[in-house]
Amino acid sequence: MKDKVALITGASSGIGRATAELFSAKGASVVVAARRGDELDELVNEIRSRGGKASAVVADMSKSGDVEKMVDHTLQEFGKLDFAVNNAGIEGEFSPIVDLSEEEWDRVLDINLKGVFLCLKYQAKAMLAAKQGGAIVNIGSVNSFLGFPTGSAYVSSKHALIGLTSSVSAELAPNGIRVNLVCPGIIDTPMHRRLRGIVGDAVYDQYAIPNVHLRRAGRAEEIAKTIAFLCSEEASYITGTTITPDGGFTLTI
Ligand SMILES: NC(=O)c1ccc[n+]([C@@H]2O[C@H](COP(=O)([O-])OP(=O)(O)OC[C@H]3O[C@@H](n4cnc5c(N)ncnc54)[C@H](OP(=O)(O)O)[C@@H]3O)[C@@H](O)[C@H]2O)c1
Repeated sequence: MKDKVALITGASSGIGRATAELFSAKGASVVVAARRGDELDELVNEIRSRGGKASAVVADMSKSGDVEKMVDHTLQEFGKLDFAVNNAGIEGEFSPIVDLSEEEWDRVLDINLKGVFLCLKYQAKAMLAAKQGGAIVNIGSVNSFLGFPTGSAYVSSKHALIGLTSSVSAELAPNGIRVNLVCPGIIDTPMHRRLRGIVGDAVYDQYAIPNVHLRRAGRAEEIAKTIAFLCSEEASYITGTTITPDGGFTLTI
């Protein structure tokens, strides 16, 4: 990834942070984006202290102006955009459909689905103008395929990313821009720890992990490696598809 420039959203935590660290270790200059500036600054300082190039931009993915500014910031800082990882997302409040408020539905869909649409729009503009190709990875979930009770907003947002990814990949493929979707299983991150807190350790240990064929939660670094693979030349013939690093969670029921 030497001389490459990567933009990673949701890099203040979990999978996004691990991805920024891995891309930097592979030689890329990274722009890290999220809403919490302090966490981003800490990550940028850490990367720079190891000799890497990094820049932070505070942006809310559900706001068009912020997303446009984020892509402009990347071009101003590093002159181009080779890779984009659209990872920012929230789990939202889990709620039976009869109790799910319109506001909560909008909040989850605005970040998880509209946010990825906005990112793709401005990232594609930059990549098309540069005429140098590129690779974009969106982050779905095993809930891009599987529903669960009380999860309708989150699950709907993640299902929709399959259609968004395949449509945009077909549009951009003639310009050498690949777009794929990574659908992680249970990954040990702050989001996952919040969910574990809601369902409780007993339910988690009894039902969740036994359904994972590798019998453990994944690590954020393992998802980062999948994302890095999809951005690399090793994946030069892969576009418009999904990869599911889930330890076998979706293999059987
Ligand atoms: N962990 C899992 O088990 C798992 C499984 C499947 C899929 N995923 C997906 O993987 C992605 C990363 O999740 P994670 O587990 O790493 O969660 P996390 O630790 O909670 O990190 C989520 C990141 O998204 C950012 N974010 C949230 N809303 C945002 C907004 N409106 N604008 C900009 N950034 C925003 C957060 O930063 P700020 O709060 O600073 O904005 C944070 O950096 C998500 O899309 C999630 O759905 C996770």
